[in-house]
Amino acid sequence: MLHQTTILALLALMVNGYKIPDEHSINYRPIIGVIAQESDSNLKQYGDTYIPAAYFQYIEMGGARGVPILVQKDAEYYDKMFDSLNGILFPGGGVSLLISGYAKAAKIFFDKAVKAYDSDGDYFPIWGTCMGFQILTAMTTGKDLLTYFDAEDIALPLKFSSDFEKSHLFKDLPEDVYQYLSKRNVTENFHHYGLEPSMFDATPDLNKFYRVLSTNEDRSGKEFISTMEAIKYPIYGTQWHPEKPNFQWNTHYHINHGPDAIRVAQYFASFLVDEARKSNHRFSTEEEEIDSLIQNYQPVYFHDQTFESMYFFNYTTNPRVNLN
Ligand SMILES: *[C@@H]1O[C@H](CO)[C@@H](O)[C@H](O)[C@H]1NC(C)=O
Ligand SMILES: *[C@@H]1O[C@H](CO)[C@@H](O)[C@H](O)[C@H]1NC(C)=O
Repeated sequence: MLHQTTILALLALMVNGYKIPDEHSINYRPIIGVIAQESDSNLKQYGDTYIPAAYFQYIEMGGARGVPILVQKDAEYYDKMFDSLNGILFPGGGVSLLISGYAKAAKIFFDKAVKAYDSDGDYFPIWGTCMGFQILTAMTTGKDLLTYFDAEDIALPLKFSSDFEKSHLFKDLPEDVYQYLSKRNVTENFHHYGLEPSMFDATPDLNKFYRVLSTNEDRSGKEFISTMEAIKYPIYGTQWHPEKPNFQWNTHYHINHGPDAIRVAQYFASFLVDEARKSNHRFSTEEEEIDSLIQNYQPVYFHDQTFESMYFFNYTTNPRVNLN
């Protein structure tokens, strides 16, 4: 069956012609940073900070490479990283939205990205997943506005907002991905906190900056915002985890590994990397680029953790990062 949207797309194509982006402005070697966070008492023995490996695998699935962004570094390091990278991912985890090293590093990138876009249209995409989504709400308000939710280990379809099709994130959503996202249990929720739509509506610092693209209900029927994007900037957040279906296999959890969930995950990874291809930041030398990549580190595998493979970093050792 030829779907209605396919016919509409064909008509639009005949009217507008197919626009191939100017090849010279596309960065075919995008590199995305992922921010580290402080280890809790169980993980401390492996390193002061960590990044779940799934976030790097997710970026690679979309066609980019990944660089770890360490916390508690000096301003020079973050300046250098911002000028060298094509986007940044704020991963899930469990540290303070306001005072952790993760939050402070995330804020530096957030402020730089907004300033760069405002001053000369410089495009630097930011993606926040789970706690990264929550951090995005703290960035614009300076507050932790979250409340408790019962939404650990639950896969759900999205309840799209009425004008979701006008968003950057969903305007080119393929029909099959739309069907999976709206009907199947393909978004993996692993959170005890979230943002209520009423809080969003009552907070100008949030609703002037972001638009809500979807909501969901936790086990008790309480509604949380599940997907949002910035109105003016390439900044996106999902309370759920698009990196889990492909890369997290612990049978303790109920992660959907079906082709519907995998297809959805691949859509979001491709979207993020497409956004990163619009950035032409780069490392000043190839050596510097190579030395910064996550490939210089060894992950530790835990079959029984929420995040199964993790990269660890210590504050005092900083192997192979050669930034001058
Ligand atoms: C960090 O330091 C601790 C204690 O010296 C050590 O056991 C651990 O292997 C180190 N981790 C990394 C990633 O260097
Ligand atoms: C999706 O998950 C919900 C909550 O766990 C469950 O009630 C529902 O039956 C699931 N739907 C499908 C299509 O698997």
